[in-house]
Amino acid sequence: MSDLKDLIQTADWKAEKHVPVIEAQDQIKNGDPLTIQVSVGKQIAHPNTTEHHIRSIDLYFLPAGEKFPYQLARFEFCAHGESIQGPNTSTVFCEPKGTAMLKTSKSGTVIAVSYCNIHGIWQSAKQVQVV
Ligand code: FE2
Repeated sequence: MSDLKDLIQTADWKAEKHVPVIEAQDQIKNGDPLTIQVSVGKQIAHPNTTEHHIRSIDLYFLPAGEKFPYQLARFEFCAHGESIQGPNTSTVFCEPKGTAMLKTSKSGTVIAVSYCNIHGIWQSAKQVQVV
């Protein structure tokens, strides 16, 4: 039996197209909002077809010193070219990108988890400091 944690893949997002890319300030002032942009395929585009696409990205925040992360947002990408005419015929394709805003008085780690419908689960993380 496999644990889910053993199935979560990580890599450098510049070399691996599935890894979610987290773009956010390294440091914010206490009370200021943190804008987090997350995407898949920033350096190397991921396919976006009915057969092969990014289905979702989840964002979490783990405050420093805490045990449990908080879920910030869940982006579901539901249109991938399917229509009554068949696969890849609708011309409607969701891009795997999302933006969330966070306010926190604690430093911590933003964690992103992406899911490709055929290549599984991928994770990345970024430290954010509150000063
Ligand atoms: Fe994939």
